[in-house]
Amino acid sequence: MNNNPIGIFDSGIGGLTVVKEILKELPSENIIYLGDTARVPYGTRGKEVITKFALDLANFLLKKKVKFLVVSCNTISSICLDVIEYISPVPVLGVIQPAVDEALKTTRSGVIGVIGTPATIASKIYEKKLKRKNPKLKVKTVSCPLFVPLAEEGLINHAATKLVAKEYLKGFKNNGIDTLILGCTHYPILRSIIQQTVGPKVTLIDSAKPTAKKLNELLEEKNLLRSEEKVRHEFFVTDAPERVYKVADNFFGDHLNGKLKEINLPIA
Ligand code: DGL
Repeated sequence: MNNNPIGIFDSGIGGLTVVKEILKELPSENIIYLGDTARVPYGTRGKEVITKFALDLANFLLKKKVKFLVVSCNTISSICLDVIEYISPVPVLGVIQPAVDEALKTTRSGVIGVIGTPATIASKIYEKKLKRKNPKLKVKTVSCPLFVPLAEEGLINHAATKLVAKEYLKGFKNNGIDTLILGCTHYPILRSIIQQTVGPKVTLIDSAKPTAKKLNELLEEKNLLRSEEKVRHEFFVTDAPERVYKVADNFFGDHLNGKLKEINLPIA
């Protein structure tokens, strides 16, 4: 039993799609979310910068005495999860392995598509993890950098998003994929356009639900579940202009108005 909060962090507000599922799966847990809205996007940056930024976020949460760290960002999870695990005194869960496990359970054709930020796709983490479990799998990947600003602008049903999706996803037409991993926590917002573009026969996997389920399992296994009733959910961002509130509500599916606390990083 451990009543300390769970720390969850992302390069911005995309990770709120994961928080939403964690709160459904673990309604008695306290959480502290940190989104680096001042420095997003990470997905177009190099390994060293992403690692440095990610460590700032992890250290902020560790100082808050969290009992578990959830990296609700595919880019950070693919580039430097090992570094975060190394410095963290508490267990760490990223979003890649839960999505990989879900895709392995789902595919019948053995051909899996993955979309993500340029950093995530260049890391080849999904291919490596999928093929480690089943070397016969075929994995087709495409980076979709414009999906992040389109999701943030809330262009969920817009002609511009349809056009961009058509262009990015054209390689998935008739190439045998039956499962597509949305390897970025921003992409669930664009789920319906992505589904329309790749067709109804392709199952879309996003990491939010499988990560929340895995977290529940790990908390139970490590005897870290919370026992108290009254919950506290805190949301920190590194920059909070009006726009961030609007976008955050869209990702979280609820009003965060007045709830985002602004902090400066790194904390000395
Ligand atoms: N949320 C990030 C991810 O899951 C994407 C945004 C970014 O590029 O920082 O990869």
